[in-house]
Amino acid sequence: MYQRHENLEHFIRVARTLFQAPALPEAGRQTAVKVFERLEQPSDDGKRNRARYPACDLLDASLAPLLDDSTSLGDAARAIKTLEPAIGWQRRTSGANGSEDYVEKHVNGMICGPGGMESRYDLQLGFSLLAPHTRYPDHRHPPEEAYVLLSAGEFRQRDGDWFDPGIGGGLHNPPNSLHAMRSGTTALLALWCLLV
Ligand SMILES: [Fe+2]
Repeated sequence: MYQRHENLEHFIRVARTLFQAPALPEAGRQTAVKVFERLEQPSDDGKRNRARYPACDLLDASLAPLLDDSTSLGDAARAIKTLEPAIGWQRRTSGANGSEDYVEKHVNGMICGPGGMESRYDLQLGFSLLAPHTRYPDHRHPPEEAYVLLSAGEFRQRDGDWFDPGIGGGLHNPPNSLHAMRSGTTALLALWCLLV
């Protein structure tokens, strides 16, 4: 029987706290409540994304500013570092308006979800990592999702203005609504959770 590793259990506990921060919109917190309820039940089909990509090398530098932080953000950064060897990496190659070379300059780390450390299909919990000056393509997907930022970064929903929720802040994307993100002069690191 599958037994969840204690490092993953710890990360999930920390992430659950981050996704309930008052700085998130209420709808984002609500999405997260449902995701983390499902996560109370460990589940893994053993499928792992084994590939690594160039942007994975940005992870250490992106976590570094938070490693000495005594808040939940620091807890999350330290927890992600312990999970790194087991993260399932993947990249988006579709969608419109991505910056040149965005495929090489970003990576998504799946922690719980298809191909991740806990491979399952009822939810996704992971993060996006964008190199500086990278715009992720406009995209949409049926699952609603919530984000929490671990760095500076800008987001756009539908045809609205770009905005930076701030470190520890976040946003909520309703089902099938168009959205995008972009980094500025520093790398963007943002946790997401999706209710599938
Ligand atoms: Fe998305």
